[in-house]
Amino acid sequence: MAKEIVVSGVRPTGELHLGNYLGAIKQFVELQDKYKTFFFIADLHAITEPQDPKKLGRQILEVAALYLACGLDPKKTTLFIQSQISEHLELSHILGTLTPVGELNRMTQYKEKIQEGQPANFGLFAYPVLMAADILVYNADAVPVGEDQRQHLEFARTIARKFNSRYGKMFREPKALTQKTGARLMGLDDPSKKMSKSAKSPDNYIGLLDNSDEIRRKIRVAVTDSGREIKYDSDRKPAISNLLSIYSLIANFPIPELEKKYKDRGYAEFKKDLGEVLVQKLSSIQKQYRALAKNQQKIKKILEDGAKEARKTAGKTMSEVRRKIGFLG
Ligand code: TYM
Repeated sequence: MAKEIVVSGVRPTGELHLGNYLGAIKQFVELQDKYKTFFFIADLHAITEPQDPKKLGRQILEVAALYLACGLDPKKTTLFIQSQISEHLELSHILGTLTPVGELNRMTQYKEKIQEGQPANFGLFAYPVLMAADILVYNADAVPVGEDQRQHLEFARTIARKFNSRYGKMFREPKALTQKTGARLMGLDDPSKKMSKSAKSPDNYIGLLDNSDEIRRKIRVAVTDSGREIKYDSDRKPAISNLLSIYSLIANFPIPELEKKYKDRGYAEFKKDLGEVLVQKLSSIQKQYRALAKNQQKIKKILEDGAKEARKTAGKTMSEVRRKIGFLG
C-alpha cells in the first residue's frame, strides 16, 4: 500500500523558538520514518509581513539548517523552498475562487495580526488559501502543526470538499496532527499568551539558537504561579503547567513522573533542572547547526533536489486540476 502523505512548513520570519520545535518540527522528525513527507520553508507566507530583503535569504537557509540539525534527513524526506514551486500559487488562485470572503474575515490569526497592527494586505488576508494550496497540491493526508494552525487546517478541509463537489473527486481532506502536550506552548513571561516570535520581550521564548547562559537565565526568570507545588493544572497553574510540558517533551519523560520526582521540591530546583535539560538538548541541535551552516552549498543542493522532487508531485496534481476545471492544454 502506498504510504500516507504528510506536508508541513515553517515561516522564515526570524528566530525559531521552542514552540516551533516542540509544536511542529519534533513531530516532522518522527513522521519522516513512516510517511511520505514534504517539509518546506514558507517564504511566501513570510512576506505577508514586511521582511528585509537583505536578510530573507539568510533566514531561509537558517530554517533549512535547523530542519536538518533537528533531525530531518533528506534521504527520507523532501525539503524545499515554497516559492520555488509555482504550482502552490496556481492552486491558491483556483482555491480562492471557491472561498467566500466572509470565511477569511473570521480567521483568528488574521484578526490577531490586524489587532497587533499589521497592515491588512491581501496576502495576509489570503494566507489560509495559500496554506490550503500548499497542502492540497501534494494531496496530503495529514499535516503536523501547532494548535494555532488548526483553524487553517479546518479551512483546508472545507475547501477540498468544495473543490471535489464542484469539479469531481480530486483531494483528500487533510487532518491536523497536533500533539497532546506541546501543541500550544505559552510565553515564559506571560502564560496567558502563546509563545511567539512577535512577542515584545525576548524573555517570552527560548530561541533554538540561544546560548546556554541565556537559556538558563530565561528559565530562571520565567513567571511561576502562586504556591510551590509542581503540579499540572492548566487553569490554576498555567505557568508551571507550561514548564512541565516543556520538560516532558524535551526529556521524553511523562508529566505524572515529573510531578512525582519534584514532589516536595520547590520551583527553584525544578527550574534549575529544566534549564539543564534544555541546554543539553539545544546545544546538541546547535552543534549540528553550526557544522551545517558552514556548508551552505550542501544545504542549497539539498533544497534544489527537494524542489525537483516536490515539483513532480505538484505538477501531476496541477495537470489533473486543470483538466477537471476545463482549462485547455
Ligand atoms: P509558523 O512559522 O508561524 O509556525 C511554524 C509551526 O510552529 C507552530 N507553533 C507553535 N506550536 C506550539 N506552541 C507555540 N507557541 C507555537 N508557535 C508556533 C505552528 O503551529 C506551526 O506548526 N502557517 C504555518 C506555516 C505554513 C504551513 C503551511 C503549515 C504555511 N503553509 C502548510 C502547514 C501546512 C505557520 O504557522 O508557520
